[in-house]
Formats: sequence, C-alpha cells, structure tokens
Amino acid sequence: MKFGYFDDVAKEYVITTPETPWPWINYLGNEDFFSLISNTAGGYSFYKDAKFRRITRYRYNNVPMDNGGRYFYINDGNSVWSPGWKPCKTPLDNYECRHGMNYTKIKGEKDGISAEVLFFVPLKTWAEVQKVTLTNTSNETKKLKLFSFMEWALWNAATDMENFQRNFSTGEVEIEGSTIYHKTEYKERRDHYAYYSVNTEIDGYDTDRETFFGLYNGFHEPQKVLEGKPGMSVAHGWSPVASHYIEVELKPGESKDFVFVLGYVENAQEEKWESKGIINKTKAKATLAKFDTAEKVDAAFDELKTYWEELLDVYTVDSGDEKLDRMVNIWNQYQCMITFNFSRSASYFESGIGRGMGFRDSNQDLIGFVHQIPERARERIIDIASTQFPDGGCYHQYQPLTKRGNNDIGGGFNDDPMWLILGVVSYIKETGDFSILDEMVPFDNDMSVAKTMFDHLTISFDHVVNNLGPHGLPLIGRADWNDCLNLNCFSNDPNESFQTTENKTEGSKAESLMIAGLFVVYGRDYIELCNVLGKTEEAARAQKHVDAMIEAVKQHGWDGDWYLRAYDYYGKKVGSKENKEGQIFIESQGWCTMAEIGKEEGMCTKALDSVKERLDCEYGIVLNNPPFSEYVVEYGEISSYPAGYKENAGIFCHNNPWVIIGEVLNGNAERAWDYFKKICPAYLEDISDLHKTEPYVYSQMIAGKDAFKPGEAKNSWLTGTAAWNFYTISQYILGVRPDYNGLIVDPCIPSDWKGFTVNRKFRGTLYNIEVVNNDSVEKGIWVDGNKIEGNVIPMQKSSAVSVKVVI
Ligand code: BGC
Ligand code: NOJ
Repeated sequence: MKFGYFDDVAKEYVITTPETPWPWINYLGNEDFFSLISNTAGGYSFYKDAKFRRITRYRYNNVPMDNGGRYFYINDGNSVWSPGWKPCKTPLDNYECRHGMNYTKIKGEKDGISAEVLFFVPLKTWAEVQKVTLTNTSNETKKLKLFSFMEWALWNAATDMENFQRNFSTGEVEIEGSTIYHKTEYKERRDHYAYYSVNTEIDGYDTDRETFFGLYNGFHEPQKVLEGKPGMSVAHGWSPVASHYIEVELKPGESKDFVFVLGYVENAQEEKWESKGIINKTKAKATLAKFDTAEKVDAAFDELKTYWEELLDVYTVDSGDEKLDRMVNIWNQYQCMITFNFSRSASYFESGIGRGMGFRDSNQDLIGFVHQIPERARERIIDIASTQFPDGGCYHQYQPLTKRGNNDIGGGFNDDPMWLILGVVSYIKETGDFSILDEMVPFDNDMSVAKTMFDHLTISFDHVVNNLGPHGLPLIGRADWNDCLNLNCFSNDPNESFQTTENKTEGSKAESLMIAGLFVVYGRDYIELCNVLGKTEEAARAQKHVDAMIEAVKQHGWDGDWYLRAYDYYGKKVGSKENKEGQIFIESQGWCTMAEIGKEEGMCTKALDSVKERLDCEYGIVLNNPPFSEYVVEYGEISSYPAGYKENAGIFCHNNPWVIIGEVLNGNAERAWDYFKKICPAYLEDISDLHKTEPYVYSQMIAGKDAFKPGEAKNSWLTGTAAWNFYTISQYILGVRPDYNGLIVDPCIPSDWKGFTVNRKFRGTLYNIEVVNNDSVEKGIWVDGNKIEGNVIPMQKSSAVSVKVVI
C-alpha cells in the first residue's frame, strides 16, 4: 500500500494522506540553522547542535505521536483546522505534503479555503521561513482568524526536559511590533536569542503557553483559537511560546501571502543590549528585512532550488529503471547530505541529545557526499582527525558545536582509526588535492601536539598493528563497527549502558575478524597512497603487516564455510558452527570478501554462498544467524535485543552493501543487484504499510526473518546505509569511481540490462558515459572516439568528453 508518489521532475515525494504509517519527515537547512519537519508540520529547529542550541521544543515518544511543531490554526467561524491536518485533526477536503530538497510544502483545503505553507531555510540564513498562502476558492467573502504557534525550548534540550524546578522560572520574552523574541538566559551567560515574526501587522499575540492553550487543553484545542481571540499574554517563567493572531478577509478568488520567520541571533558581548534589559535586535531586523515580501521569499527559494540542481548534477544516471534513477539522482544523494549534516544526532529516532558526530560514522558518511561538497568534506576530515589521540585511538564521538571529543563515551573502539584512511583517500581520489596530507592536525584538539594528516594516517594504521591479539588478529577493544558486540563488557547491571560501562580489555583475548578485513582493505589503500607519494619504504613496511593479517585470517579466521566473526574474551570462537547461536555474522563476510582474503582458495565464494543460504531473506540480509534467544553476558548488547531486531539478526542495512561489494568483486552481478533492490526504499514503496518508514530514504534497520514482524523498518534517515548504498551503486554496480589519476569505469550489472548512461562531473570535466552491454560487438572503452587501454580514463583537459564503454 502506498501513501503518496514520487514526483521525479520536481524532485519531491508527494504524500497524499496525513495518516502515514509513521511521521514521514524532511530536513530543512544545510549549514547552521536546521529544522526537522514531518508531513503534518511537526518537528523542531536548532542552531548547529540539536542538544546545546535547541530553539523550539519537541517531545519525543509523545502521545499521540509527533505532537508539537510549527502549527497554523484557522478559525473560519464554523470550524478550527490546520493546513497539515494536525494538530486539530479536523477532516480536510484536501491534503497534500510535498517533501523536496531541503523544503516542504504542506497544503490543506477546507470549506472553500485553501492554505498552503512553504517551509525552508534560505541559503546562508539563520532562520526558517514559512510562507503561508491563503486562498478563497469559494464565491463568497471569507473572514478568517489565523493563529501561528510554536513553543520555545530553553536552549539545552537535555535540561529542557528535566530541570523543571529551574525551567519554570527562567522564561523571558520581548514583544515588539509583529515579532516575538525569546530571550531566556540572555541576561546571564547566553549571547543568543531567537525570534518569530510575520511580515504584516498583527491583531494580537500570545507568548504564555497556559494562556494560549488553557492548562488542561492540548495542541489540538487551544483555548484562544477556539475562542477566536488572543490572550495578549506575556510569558514570565513557565513555558514561553510564540503565537501571532491575524484577522484575514478574502474576497472570492482572492489570495494573500504571509511570511513568517523563525530566526536565531548571536550577539557579541559588548553588543548584547539596546538599552538596559532590552535586547539588541539589529541582526534580527536585518534578517527580517531580507524576507519581508513574498517576492523576496520566492527568490530565495529559487536560489535553494538552483543550489540543489547543481549538487545533484555531479552524478546522474539514466538506466531505464525509474526507481533506480530516482534513488541515485535524487533521494540517495539527498540523504547522504543529511547524514553529513546530522551524523546520528537528530531524527525522529535520534533525540538530538544522545549522540553527536561519530568518528567512524562521519568518515563513512563522507563517501556519500565528498563529490558534492569537497571543501566541506575537507573541513570535516580535519575536524574528525583532530579528535584522535597520539596513539591512533580516538574519541568515538564529538559535539558539532564545540568540535571537541565527547568524554561521556570516550574511546577504545578499535575499528575507529581505520575509517580515517577511507575518509582521506576518498577525498583525495575525488579532488586530487594531496595538500590535505600536509595539514597540521592536532591531537585531542591540542594544537601544541599537532602532526600532519599523513602522520595521522600512519598512526591509524599502526593502531591496529600495535593492538593485535593471540592469533595475530586485531583486538576488538570496546567494540568494532558492531557497537553491540561487547566482548569485554560483562554487564549484569541493568542500570549500566553497554556503550559506556567499563570494559575489561586488560588480559582480554577478544579479537575481531571484521577489523581484520577492514585493515586489509584500507591497509592496501594506505600502501597505495604511500606508493603514489613515493614513500616506498613505508609502503613495504605496511605491506608486511597486511600480508601477515591475510595469513592470520586464513589460519585462524576461517570456519570451513565462512569467516569467523571474532574470538571472545576467553579466546573462544564467535560466529562458528561450534556456537549454539550466532553461528554466522555478516560483517566479517562482507569485509573479508571485500578484502578478497583466500579468494584463490575459494573462501570468498564459499562465504558469500553461506550468506545467501543462512542470512538472506525476503527483505534483505540479516546480521547474524541463528539469532540470540538468551542474554549472553560475554557478548553484551547484541544478545539483549529480541530476535530479528537491530544488531540481533535484524537487517542492519548499513552492512548489506559490504556483501554487495563482495559479490561484485567476486563477479556475481545478479546477486549484487538482487541484494541492492531488497533494501532500496524506492522499491519498497508498495509495501509502505509494512515497511512503515519513508519510502524515499533508507532506514537503519528492517526487522529480519526471525522477528515478530519481518519487513518493518525503523530508524530512518540517519544511518551509514545512505552513504554505503550510494557508494555501492554508483562506484561498484554502475562502476564509475574516482581514482588518483582518472576515472575508473568498471560496471557490474545483471546480464539482462542493455546498458545505461552516467553523467559524472569529475575535477572540472563532465564525463558523458554510455555503457553498452552487448556480447556481439568489440569490448572496450572509447574516449571521444579513441580506444584506451584498461578501465581508467585518464584526466581530461576539455570541459566535457564522451565515453563509450562496451561490456
Ligand atoms: C544501538 C547501536 C548504536 C549504539 C550506540 C545501540 O543501542 O543498537 O546501533 O550504534 O547503541 O549508540
Ligand atoms: C549505529 C552506530 O551509529 C554505528 O556507529 C554502528 O557501527 C552501528 N550502529 C552498528 O552497531
């Protein structure tokens, strides 16, 4: 069952009923000011950091779901309704929500009135603009009362939810003209405030929640809206809100636009005040002046659209399969940009207060957006590497506002360092900018102990080398990529977090086959980089370690039909036929086949066949099999989940592409494509009622074959799945991938495809690539008509070339 449709020309997903199986959301903003917005206008805004600079309030896990957002209420004398259906839930004559590239349009119609709201954050602007268009579609004059509404958060989203003894006394606002300013804590240590304004004279306002709603009423029945009269309340403590009241008269056929702006301002200490107790509003007014007419807003909206056209132009495909094309050309790339901005911090499953930017997460996300915004990727890599320690270990997360490592979670995840090599190498291959390697990058943000980025790569590589276990395999530390395989944790206390409880790594024999594969793959990348740089001695030194790792895997990491997953604290096998549960795991099959370890001996083929047999199901490849049915203290969180969910045999979509690349490298195009389609959201649109999350973005997890409800997805948007799937489809299945000296074209497509075209902008040249799958003509690659040797198209001088590839 579907709840909308794709409009590929507009690059939008059009939702046709407000009652989606779960709120289907979108993200506004691309640099500093961000908002989450659902298809019924729920959600919230923040500046840079969803924890420390929460601008509007949102209550997670609320009843009903997704209550609270930026709401408009219309009282037309007969009924009270909202353009996005919620919160009033008054039945509408028509409803439509269009989620586009960093904007959302929500339109409701009732009794001859149409209300359309365009929500977006203009480029380079610290504000969300909401353009409300009211149209009288009837043939009689209409008199309406329009109320806006949103609720301020008291800045720190964590304390906002818990420290009520203080919170209920701190709230402060100022009202000037049509603008409501939120200035809680501004008089003390904060140098920022927020504001909500409209570009017309208002007929009233409210800023105190209790007055507006009535103490015992909810979002769906605000007392002042029902009464059709504002309360003119000024908040002092309790819960400050912002609501404008506007009386509107519309003749038949007449339309009126209102521009609402929700903004954020920072003032220097010496410029905080206009006069005693009165905040300096200069910056707010300057922003408001930029958006004080519908024409200015439309122009800013056009700029945003152009910006996205250009971003999405870097890689486009025409495959003849509209589902594939819309994922590659629009939604998958869009989601990659969202993960660039939010890592795992703020979604409808991530509360914005739990996690900042992940070391491993952000490095992996990079492979999904580096082609679009290389300069920002460069900055990101430096930020990430700056949270590394001198021994190569690193903080597992850092806060986006401060860019400092997060002490609550600390470090010790032994896969983390290797991902930095992936990030840096991907950046250089895309841009050809080797200068990043010479950047001085601090350790733990301390510039006095900085080393070059290249040195950071060396110590990343050596962190594995210096932390090998009894079998010569990498020690797992706190955990590897699978945060829930906690082999050194031994937690028996339900009040402990598996993620942060003290780990017993002293004397532990716990080793990871996943890190072993990872080390071989990115170790080879490191070696290649050293060779490109002429550092042949270092390359030779590294090669020995990689070779030794390959041997260790062959000797101690093979279980007969697949790669082991790990050795536990005591040195016992994990992911082996000898185990009762958790006999086979996906991660080591993915990484060891990507590393092509034991390929000649048939290990890769066997391992991939075992994945097919034991882990594959209708909805994707599950993480492990059989699932854990009991809590295993020496395995930790993985065994805490019910069977089929999350890391316990869920389809953890992030790791499916590892197997897909393994299949590509092993030459099995049909299987690679089949796996790709299984978890790709556009192909799941028809089962949206089961899948539940948005059909335009990947979810972290789809319930696996052993779950209560196989096929049901959770944790949409913020997942490494986005980057890995874009990387896999664009670089391995379609096969167009950047290299140091050119663009590789090496597709691996099912035999029944006739071919496809890809347009790829790469270092200043547009490559128009036509791939033809034809057995009866000469194979090879022709660049502007000239046949080349091999599959690397050398760097071009002209601004466009045409490439023909026959496979
Ligand atoms: C989740 C993991 C996540 C970890 C760290 C666990 O509860 O299952 O997917 O990576 O928490 O936040
Ligand atoms: C989500 C986390 O963000 C990521 O770092 C981790 O690798 C996966 N879960 C798997 O546990």
